[in-house]
Amino acid sequence: MELIRGTDIYIKVNNVRVCYNDSGDSAIPILFIHGFPFNKDTWQPQVEFLRERHRVITYDVRGFGKSELGDDDASIVQYADDLIGLMDALEIPKAIVCGLSMGGYILMNAVHRYPERFEGLILADTQCNADTPEAKEKRYQSIEKINTDGTEEYADASVKNLFCKKTLDTNTELVDKIRNVITSTPPESITSTLSALATRNDACVFLKEISNFTLIICGKEDSITPPAKAEFLNTSIKNSSVVIIENAGHLSNLENPDDFNHAMGKFITKTLARF
Ligand code: MLT
Repeated sequence: MELIRGTDIYIKVNNVRVCYNDSGDSAIPILFIHGFPFNKDTWQPQVEFLRERHRVITYDVRGFGKSELGDDDASIVQYADDLIGLMDALEIPKAIVCGLSMGGYILMNAVHRYPERFEGLILADTQCNADTPEAKEKRYQSIEKINTDGTEEYADASVKNLFCKKTLDTNTELVDKIRNVITSTPPESITSTLSALATRNDACVFLKEISNFTLIICGKEDSITPPAKAEFLNTSIKNSSVVIIENAGHLSNLENPDDFNHAMGKFITKTLARF
């Protein structure tokens, strides 16, 4: 699968130069937040699928892709402020927003503080839990290792966990591309975000307050945020439904884009019909 680049546009958000793509046209845009440690190009199958009928925006979270890292301490709260800052800068009062994994952490944080900015939520391969002490420790060990050895080994270990067996066995092109995305990311972006992930707050406590229409998607073989995490989100958020994607691990939007797009498209049509 080719990860094709769109036309890159730059905008200042919270003192950082953020790179985004913006295509198609609709009153309510569909905006995507990528996972860690990736970039906006990982949404290409969804952009292709939606842009004939919707305005679709993807952006690089600060430090990733072509967005500047900035000088602030990295945190999920800061990334959520950037999401709202980007929507403000683009004069978007409301959007349907999809976040995968870390993108979901960012989205849940933003929704908690600014629920009125979201017409609908798509939470893909994500969870509301904070890191366990063991997970935190693993992140700090990764930071030390990257600081001494760089990102090559980190990328090798990551790709083994990101995909389902079928993808690892049959889609080496995708696996290699994602490995390349990881090794092309500046090490300081990876380490500062590992620290942001380790120190993020639990979001489970406020899920009951969310009343936005929500679709939860999860790859059946996601070993990082498994289907049980998706089921928990679904039982905690009132206006939600869940779809489990076959033949997919943690990157369900890339491993099985047809099923992902089908579920996402149905949700967007239904949500906009209520608008
Ligand atoms: C992601 O894909 O964004 C990461 O797996 C999130 C995490 O490490 O918690």
